[in-house]
Amino acid sequence: MASRKLLLLPGDGIGPEAMVEVVKIIDWMNGHLGSGFETSEGLVGGAAYDAHGVAISDEDMVRAMAADAVLFGAVGGPKWDDVPYDARPEAGLLRLRKDMELFANLRPAICYPALADSSSLRHDVVEGLDILIVRELTGGVYFGEPKEITDLGNGQKRAVDTQVYDTFEIERISRMAFDLAKTRRNKVTSMEKRNVMVSGVLWNEVVTNVHANEYADVELEHMLADAGGMQLVRWPKQFDVIVTDNLFGDMLSDVAAMLTGSLGMLPSASLGAPDPVTGARKALYEPVHGSAPDIAGTGAANPIVAMCMRYSFDMIDHADRLEKAIATVLEQGLRTGDIMSEGMTQVGTTEMGDAVLAEFQKLSA
Ligand code: IPM
Ligand code: MG
Repeated sequence: MASRKLLLLPGDGIGPEAMVEVVKIIDWMNGHLGSGFETSEGLVGGAAYDAHGVAISDEDMVRAMAADAVLFGAVGGPKWDDVPYDARPEAGLLRLRKDMELFANLRPAICYPALADSSSLRHDVVEGLDILIVRELTGGVYFGEPKEITDLGNGQKRAVDTQVYDTFEIERISRMAFDLAKTRRNKVTSMEKRNVMVSGVLWNEVVTNVHANEYADVELEHMLADAGGMQLVRWPKQFDVIVTDNLFGDMLSDVAAMLTGSLGMLPSASLGAPDPVTGARKALYEPVHGSAPDIAGTGAANPIVAMCMRYSFDMIDHADRLEKAIATVLEQGLRTGDIMSEGMTQVGTTEMGDAVLAEFQKLSA
């Protein structure tokens, strides 16, 4: 069995606690299914800052580049509120995305049947929801230059962030979205603000061209991003795949995730281009909730492993079984604190992880 190299970056806050559950599943799969995962651990975020004065060290970046997949926990917390901007915990995650060229961020918003009543929306609006947000991750206003605050000398300052997109960046993310749509319900909705932003004009034009030239058999719809946000809350089941830029994708994926009643449980995959020789993609698996400590839960641990098996290692059966195990445990009424609701049984991270592993073992027997 070829080895499968994983770099674990637990980070801060609930990250380390969640990573224990990741390791638990992986160890069991190695011992009983001969899965051949080789894990090593690094530091990111505040943990890396405390140890090295940076949000991720060059050594850990080298290891991330060499790994088949990186599993990321969470970064940030009040302790690091005053560190220099370039060393803030989030900078570690942004460097991973940028240096590994992880241009495509896949953020599924799936409503587990057992959680349909935990959504802030009506049961019938979210029941059976299964949408996928494909967020561009290495361009746009997150990375555009100039990005600075200048002193105007008259008691005023000026802050500039720059939204930049080149044709090739829009082409590759839209191809990713169309390809994924073909494996699902065959529909892509592209969101931008072409009524206000020239980057939106180009975005719209490039997606339209890629569609006409390469994917005419997929249904394509364009929506202004603000209207898209409204439609997501009004009737989310109209969507299949949504493709959008880095900033809109950040916001719309939080909205979409919350519809499912389980933002803290949703995984996301950040993928690079396939290697021309091996076909393998660099990959990082992270919770959708990013660093937000108020909504972050430890429930994303198992879903992240499932997503990693699916997209990095083609272990589709295992991924299906792990996802089924998660759904079953939820149906049994077990809930971690972040998704707790009335009448359910609240358990800690360890107990939840154990319950999922036990179901997974049953399904793998
Ligand atoms: C996310 C997060 C990150 C982002 C933060 C932590 C930098 O919100 O992954 O959605 O803005 O991309
Ligand atoms: Mg976010």
